[in-house]
Amino acid sequence: MRAPTFRRPFSACLPGPAPSTIACCVALVLALSPPSLLAASPSGCDDLGAFPETPGLVFERDIQPLLDNCLGCHGGQGGLSLAPDEAYKALVGVVSNTRPELLRVDPGKPGQSVLFRAINCNTPAGPSFRMPGLSGPTDQALIRDWIEQGAGDFILRDRFEPP
Ligand code: HEC
Repeated sequence: MRAPTFRRPFSACLPGPAPSTIACCVALVLALSPPSLLAASPSGCDDLGAFPETPGLVFERDIQPLLDNCLGCHGGQGGLSLAPDEAYKALVGVVSNTRPELLRVDPGKPGQSVLFRAINCNTPAGPSFRMPGLSGPTDQALIRDWIEQGAGDFILRDRFEPP
């Protein structure tokens, strides 16, 4: 046990020509990364910086109509259902199937929400492809803003606004 085997590959790091130094640095970074960093990060994501925030978004009125475009594959036939009476419960605060360390919608954190990545990135690092159905970045920005604003629905809003 005196010479742990995991150290051996890196003994090549010290002397040697540049290529092996670079290779071993990459290996070191990978070896030292926590598992969440080892799993792929989303890539090919759209920059929505040009789309200003739309205030006051509510799930039933503003977001469900967008998700209606997804029902061909998420209509309740198993897996994630985005049907009107099921989507909110299936999304908000629910652990992702494809990326179990994240939530499908993590209120306040679009960048950490698998739903937002799934519609905003070509390689979402969760689902293996960008989810088709939205009309473009305007829709994507609405989903971003709704999550950012706390992923509210009428029920949640009513809870804070006495009748
Ligand atoms: C062509 C069929 C299809 C359409 C249309 C589609 N999806 Fe998907 N979706 C899938 C499949 C298949 C998976 C599982 C992906 C995988 O395992 O890589 C998935 C996974 C997901 C996930 C990840 C679920 C999890 O728990 O990790 C989300 C979120 C999602 N879809 C949202 C949407 C949204 C929002 C739309 C509409 C804009 C949509 N999808 C449209 C087929 C589709």
